[in-house]
Amino acid sequence: MDRLRLPPELTAKLKTDGRLPAKNRAWLDKREKQLVANWNQEVRDDKTRREREKWLKASVWSGQRPISFKFDRWNPDLQDNRKLASDVGNRAWTIAKRIIVGEEFNVCLTGEPGTGKTSLALAIADKVWAEADKPYLFISTMRLVGMFSERFDDPTVGDRLNQLQGLAKQAPVLIIDDFGTEAGMKEQGYYKPVRKDMQEWLYAVADARYDEWANAHRGSTIVTTNNTSGDLVQMYNPKLISRLITKRKDNVIDFDGLEDMRG
Ligand SMILES: Nc1ncnc2c1ncn2[C@@H]1O[C@H](COP(=O)(O)OP(=O)(O)OP(=O)(O)O)[C@@H](O)[C@H]1O
Ligand SMILES: [Mg+2]
Repeated sequence: MDRLRLPPELTAKLKTDGRLPAKNRAWLDKREKQLVANWNQEVRDDKTRREREKWLKASVWSGQRPISFKFDRWNPDLQDNRKLASDVGNRAWTIAKRIIVGEEFNVCLTGEPGTGKTSLALAIADKVWAEADKPYLFISTMRLVGMFSERFDDPTVGDRLNQLQGLAKQAPVLIIDDFGTEAGMKEQGYYKPVRKDMQEWLYAVADARYDEWANAHRGSTIVTTNNTSGDLVQMYNPKLISRLITKRKDNVIDFDGLEDMRG
């Protein structure tokens, strides 16, 4: 905290008789209030920064480092179907606004690889965090399934999964990225079910985020996927899919018709 930095003559006066003329007292009060306000703001900013770091660190990213994307980077001109890209961006923006004003619901971003689903999921989460102070947890399902395989060789991974599950249950915004990819490719027209331990882990998360009695969601869960809900019920228990994948038109963004930006 900044020191009061009184002019030397005032310091001298305080030292001699401890009293100040009214004019100086008012100045001193004002300065003190300002310093306290600044200090409170610093404490708040520091808390926000630490909170942000906590969630980013707890998140499970597909690469080595966290990724981020903001709405101002969404550029419809990159797509041949500019209007569709612009509509998709606007729909994501509307969803962010609804979460900001306090709605809680599931969101599904579905479409082909490279069309911008993960980017817009992050843009929604970033805006909600900035404007409503609600943090998000990001989970790459490919990395998650990797952790389930690793946990038998490395006990710390098991601890990490437990800790992650606790946070996933309570995160104000949860992104489940690339859901369904972990099932692998279709074999003879069908997907193989995803490993049981991971299904149970995800079911406990989805169940905690849904209040059966009140028929209401706790927090918002954003799922990005290349699969249809028909594919997903081959991979997962239908009870999990019902809790996680929304069918409500307002909450689904279909990226069909957009091109692969990685191509
Ligand atoms: N409209 C856009 N404006 C700016 N960048 C875009 C746009 N669409 C896609 N990108 C960029 O293209 C790359 C691929 O996008 P992203 O990872 O969001 O796709 P995805 O749909 O999640 O793909 P996948 O299904 O393979 O996970 C990213 O670097 C992303 O930032
Ligand atoms: Mg993606």
